[in-house]
Amino acid sequence: MQLFDISALVTGGASGLGEATARALVAAGAQVTITDLPTSAGEEVAAALGGGTRFVPADITDELTLGAAMDAATERGPLRAVVHCAGRGGDRLRILGKDGEPSPLASFEEVLRINLVGTYNVLRLAAARMVRNEPLDGDRGAVVMTASVAAFDGQIGQTSYTASKAGVHGMTLVAARDLAAAQIRVNTIAPGIFDTPMLARLREDIREGLAASVPHPRRLGAPEDYAHLALSLLQNPYVNAETIRLDGGIRMAPR
Ligand SMILES: NC(=O)c1ccc[n+]([C@@H]2O[C@H](COP(=O)([O-])OP(=O)(O)OC[C@H]3O[C@@H](n4cnc5c(N)ncnc54)[C@H](O)[C@@H]3O)[C@@H](O)[C@H]2O)c1
Repeated sequence: MQLFDISALVTGGASGLGEATARALVAAGAQVTITDLPTSAGEEVAAALGGGTRFVPADITDELTLGAAMDAATERGPLRAVVHCAGRGGDRLRILGKDGEPSPLASFEEVLRINLVGTYNVLRLAAARMVRNEPLDGDRGAVVMTASVAAFDGQIGQTSYTASKAGVHGMTLVAARDLAAAQIRVNTIAPGIFDTPMLARLREDIREGLAASVPHPRRLGAPEDYAHLALSLLQNPYVNAETIRLDGGIRMAPR
């Protein structure tokens, strides 16, 4: 699907992978709307991206505000592309604490609510708009979701995060099958370790250690690497129902 002049929405567009994807979409000539939490730097980021980029605040788990963001994107033309990057890290809790007590259920539920329920909310509300589009290059729309390599090799303390991202991976095939009749493609990127604000909270020596553990290239992923693949997945009409690891070949150790 061509990207020039189409309306595209990026969730989590105020930071990290979403911001880089929005920048790449602007460069490709798309009409870009970014959405992120009201507390984010979305307004400033949209202004810096230029190209008429709009910021519409929304919580991905909220039907009303997210729907309004999608409607705002639709005002700029039929919404054809959604790249869903909004999400949160895990709670870093082991199943049993040092005292042998089970970890709090509420923490597990919260990670699932944002990363998995939020992703389903993005998917269903986007599809409801895309199905009304006339096909362009054979697609009414294309969605890119974001999992993580933790979906496949989750580390100790990542039970909630891994469950949420494995859920996103698991939804990919069934969503693509389900939405095939609507001519909507659904793919997922499973990033390795990327240099974004989500990772910035780690100590520098830990970040260097992580970079050194990547087989090739021996560095953290750049948000532009993600944007490159996201745009390619939107453009290539024959990629569908796929989760692609984007990780320099890394396989995470147990801890
Ligand atoms: N950075 C990495 O190494 C890495 C690795 C694997 C997967 N991921 C995934 O990539 C995605 C993007 O991560 P990032 O590194 O760009 O992080 P980031 O923290 O830079 O950006 C995430 C954005 O999502 C927004 N957000 C969080 N909860 C939201 C909600 N409920 N509603 C709307 N917006 C919300 C945040 O405000 C933030 O701007 C996440 O899903 C993350 O799990 C990141």
